[in-house]
Amino acid sequence: MERTAIFGGSFNPVHNEHIAIAKMAIEQLKLDRLIVMPTYIAPHKDASSTSAEHRFNMLKLAFEKVEKVEVSDYEIKKGGTSYTYLTVEHFKNTLNGELFFLVGADMLKDFKTWRYPERILSACTLCAFDRGGETTDYQLERQNFINNYGKDFILLKGGGQKQSSTKIRVYNELGLDITLQTPKKVCDYIKENGLYLGDKYSEFIKKSLPQKRLVHTANVVISALAKYKELGLDKRKVRISAMLHDCAKYIDPKTVEGFSVPSDMPAPVVHAFLGAFIAKNYLGITDEDIINAIRYHTSGRAKMSALEKLIFTADMIEDGRVYEGVEQLRKLFYLTDFDECFTTCLKEEMQHLLNKKQPIYFETLNAYEYFVKRKETKDE
Ligand SMILES: [Fe+2]
Ligand SMILES: [Fe+2]
Repeated sequence: MERTAIFGGSFNPVHNEHIAIAKMAIEQLKLDRLIVMPTYIAPHKDASSTSAEHRFNMLKLAFEKVEKVEVSDYEIKKGGTSYTYLTVEHFKNTLNGELFFLVGADMLKDFKTWRYPERILSACTLCAFDRGGETTDYQLERQNFINNYGKDFILLKGGGQKQSSTKIRVYNELGLDITLQTPKKVCDYIKENGLYLGDKYSEFIKKSLPQKRLVHTANVVISALAKYKELGLDKRKVRISAMLHDCAKYIDPKTVEGFSVPSDMPAPVVHAFLGAFIAKNYLGITDEDIINAIRYHTSGRAKMSALEKLIFTADMIEDGRVYEGVEQLRKLFYLTDFDECFTTCLKEEMQHLLNKKQPIYFETLNAYEYFVKRKETKDE
């Protein structure tokens, strides 16, 4: 009996981990064929700004030398929204043998919101690829699957380095190197076709920040974007706030007309307030929530909005940060409880300032009082 797996996704764009997963699936599931299938429009994502043809062409380049892989334009040709249940039923009826469907483990918790999950599972077996186990609670998902559908999923092990299409898009937008993330031919294709270019905000950031700070900014954007949906925030606002949060890090406040540094403001806080001023007065941002997310990303304040909290937290846990306890904070951020992660970050920040005997801004004290102390009193 022939064994076929479908590897669907937006592939916007394809990256090295996709290739590693495909190879791993072929080996671990003993496949005769792996069908790589870009969606026309992913039901769970925004209408893609990159055309289906570009995504398809990049997949052809990425998989040209991988045996047993066929890149299919079935969903693209079909047009409209790509629903997995229709695709798996089509292939189950056309092909003989056993069918598997690969999904990123991060999709498991949303599987119940897919159209007709029972029909999907009666046509195929779901195979989740492990992405380092950092973002998914497998035990919980397994229990949910068995309770809801009476059928388990297969977990493929060892997906290689954790990579993401978001990372390639954000890095490319900021002019950072993407050659370690996707094959050279794909990098060349992105360049030649002018894909994933930035807007006026990323252009401003590119001119204002050195390479190291650009990488940090990209990482904050990526971390913040991982949470916008769960927190019910607007993706565009999250992206702009994260992109601009450190825009004034290398600007001397004395050179900015109309901005004066309050005498009680500790030096590390200044760039956040100056950044908010620049976003408002030089970049024409009128949305107060975005401006406040930039202004309070270092100090925090009482009654921070969800967006403010997200940027504050993403700034502290982004992938490039190295300090004791950061791994634990990342786990909280991705896996369990955003609010607990935020308050823990606030405590860390306070402890750090106390240890270093640095002055503490009154807004930070207010934030601590409001989010940590009040919570502790409530919990007692
Ligand atoms: Fe900052
Ligand atoms: Fe930052």
